[in-house]
Amino acid sequence: MREKTVADVLAPAELGPVRLRNRVLKAATYEKRARRGLVTDELIDFHVRHAAGGVGMTTVAYCAVSPEGRTDGHQIVWRDEAVPGLRRLTEAVHAEGAAISAQVGHAGPVADSTKTKLPALGPSPSLSLQSLRRVRAATSGDIDRVVQAHGDAAKMAVATGFDAVEVHLGHNYLASSFLSPKLNKRKDSYGGSLANRARLALRIMRAVRDAVGGRIAILAKLNMDDGVPGGFWLDEAIEVARWLEADGTVDAVEMTAGSSLLNPMYLFKGDAPVREFASVMREPVRTGVKLVGSRFLREYPYQDGYLLDDARQVRAAVDLPMVLLGGVTNRQVMDTAMQEGFQFVAMGRALLREPDLINRIAADPATRSLCNHNNRCMVTIFTGSRCVLVPETQPPTDSR
Ligand SMILES: Cc1cc2nc3c(=O)[nH]c(=O)nc-3n(C[C@H](O)[C@H](O)[C@H](O)COP(=O)(O)O)c2cc1C
Ligand code: SF4
Repeated sequence: MREKTVADVLAPAELGPVRLRNRVLKAATYEKRARRGLVTDELIDFHVRHAAGGVGMTTVAYCAVSPEGRTDGHQIVWRDEAVPGLRRLTEAVHAEGAAISAQVGHAGPVADSTKTKLPALGPSPSLSLQSLRRVRAATSGDIDRVVQAHGDAAKMAVATGFDAVEVHLGHNYLASSFLSPKLNKRKDSYGGSLANRARLALRIMRAVRDAVGGRIAILAKLNMDDGVPGGFWLDEAIEVARWLEADGTVDAVEMTAGSSLLNPMYLFKGDAPVREFASVMREPVRTGVKLVGSRFLREYPYQDGYLLDDARQVRAAVDLPMVLLGGVTNRQVMDTAMQEGFQFVAMGRALLREPDLINRIAADPATRSLCNHNNRCMVTIFTGSRCVLVPETQPPTDSR
């Protein structure tokens, strides 16, 4: 049964087997601070800043389970060479009193094959609009390999001192693209019915649970709505959340939305930085973004707690601990989340803007976030993610 009393978001809490100093998670915001797939001092500094700023747990963004699943050539891939750096990273965060989670996944059709030099994988063949390269349909051998790779990555997360793994089941990355009726046209046991489209996600979660047992916490970041006509939608997401609960493979679910492939702004809401986005693209993509970018990067009105209406419906359907994400920026939204039965909140942009926001909210609950949702930080994922309004967090010198 879910807790009946309303939790204090800033008091310690259990997430699976892990005790956190509070219920605030730093959401994964791709840092672009790894180099040749390895941890750098800049990546450690980034997370130490967030840990020192008061979050209960910080999340190392997207680390790929296999080389073709990267969105960037320098991205961390789980492998032996990465172990010493990952250990330094977890130790540095622990020294600040915070826990640390690793986001693991396979980018599938969102992978950038111009950077990985490997064909991207999807449920069905397609052309990637971002890389203008072919996306190959995953064979059953690919699927088995990717499932196994998630388990291996999770084992490595345990060995390197992480407190949790967050498995990426959203944004039309590989598992999410299989869930999507729009992207998944397969005729085998991975396509068609929801049970078939969800098979990859459920197998991945099973592999992760089998790999880590109860040693660290397991979260799943699952889409509720791709924001695309004919895409994965809330009623199906509720069913998948129920299956995850029945399988016992997750300690908490974090509901998200949108498609990095087809409708990226849907997951952020707020301004669409079309001009800034075009300026960091190579030709011919740059011209394409200038011409039709506003159709790809669409503006949606922002409001605090903008995923709450949908997430509340998932909340009503499962007893699993849940993380509320999307426009959590102040104590009021956090308290609403707790009142609505969410056990944790996750924050992305507000913490990029002010990494010490949680300490400041703890000192003064009336503290308001300075993030204005202009979303220009989205564009900095190509050079070193940061809030463009914060001059002291300039990009790492060797980020290209
Ligand atoms: C610069 C930036 C990079 C992001 N990178 C990732 C990522 O690597 N993985 C992911 O799941 N979400 C990523 N996100 C999405 C955030 O985790 C979060 O879902 C989104 O920002 C909404 O939360 P917010 O309103 O608190 O910012 C990123 C967001 C931003 C702004
Ligand atoms: S650039 Fe800064 S102010 Fe703008 S959305 Fe990102 S974090 Fe917020």
